Amino acid sequence: MYELIKQDGLAKRGRLHTVHGVVETPVFMNVGTAAAIKGAVSTDDLRGIKTQIELSNTYHLHVRPGDEVVRKLGGLHRFMAWDKPILTDSGGFQVFSLAGLRRIKEEGVYFNSHIDGRKIFMGPEESMQIQSNLASTIAMAFDECPSSVADREYMERSVARTARWLNRCKKEMDRLNSLPDTINRHQMLFGINQGGVYEDIRIRHAQEITELNLDGYAVGGLAVGESHEEMYRILEAVVPYLPTAKPTYLMGVGTPANILEAVDKGVDFFDCVYPSRNGRHGHVYTNQGKLNLFNAKYELDERPVEEGCQCPACRTYSRAYIRHLLKAKEMLGMRLCVLHNLYFYNTMMEEIREAIEEGRYREYKAKKLSGMA
Ligand code: GUN
Ligand code: ZN
Repeated sequence: MYELIKQDGLAKRGRLHTVHGVVETPVFMNVGTAAAIKGAVSTDDLRGIKTQIELSNTYHLHVRPGDEVVRKLGGLHRFMAWDKPILTDSGGFQVFSLAGLRRIKEEGVYFNSHIDGRKIFMGPEESMQIQSNLASTIAMAFDECPSSVADREYMERSVARTARWLNRCKKEMDRLNSLPDTINRHQMLFGINQGGVYEDIRIRHAQEITELNLDGYAVGGLAVGESHEEMYRILEAVVPYLPTAKPTYLMGVGTPANILEAVDKGVDFFDCVYPSRNGRHGHVYTNQGKLNLFNAKYELDERPVEEGCQCPACRTYSRAYIRHLLKAKEMLGMRLCVLHNLYFYNTMMEEIREAIEEGRYREYKAKKLSGMA
């Protein structure tokens, strides 16, 4: 159940109640694709850096270790020792970005595993069954994420198919949630809006999928090559057609600036690999912009990554030490950078929530953006 607590302009301050606890929104979901946060970050670490919800991937876990294995081990929560909410992406997007040869048919997608090349079929029913075995808190609908340069005709046909797939997802999820031996019988289902850069296709699709009264709605197919301005234009066009009384999730986005802008347009769920990927490369976020700790100017810099930051890296270690670890290829170097970056994102979301509650979101956003520029 989602509670809309307050709106400041279009910015939403909400609360999602789940069987695994409450998620305060706007929220940044910390990405653990294969049930692991890259950079040797444990779920114990997540508890110390304000993580509210973790995100894993249907496709990856289906390929390895296999969703049946996870089911036998009691589901993803028990498997990875994380008792707070987990969202699983449906596999659609990963099939399109990872798998080599693939064939899209009405029934689903045929593709080869990126691990061992074996042939796999995944359709809406399979995706729901896998996510039910994983027993995540929130399952995502199985969709096609078309290329950002797909023409109008392709987009029309793809979106119509994604809409038909959503009906099948809903039906299968309802069936799975009614079975006595399903691990999480309260699994939520979020629909995904597609339509590329075509506003009218986006809006028509949004109107269609909101009729299903799902637990939340995502905007997919963005940050796939279009400009930031185009992404903002699409959000401004389509978010007003999604219910404010449900979670609004912008998939795979983005930079701190992208998040600040999207919150202002009514989005309140985010996920992105940037903080962990950048951290693994020694790039760390601060309120004055990003630093590259490999830079020679940090060789004798005894300051923490960010003055006043309460993360496990900044509380104890200097830029100079972390730079040394990175250069020596010590795993601890990337780990500390990832912990700092996730803490930075999670803390920004906390500030965003507070600013909306106090009706000063625009002011907060402007100040945060000008500092980081
Ligand atoms: N992650 C980022 N974009 C997308 C999308 O369009 N669909 C899905 N399923 N996941 C995504
Ligand atoms: Zn820090």
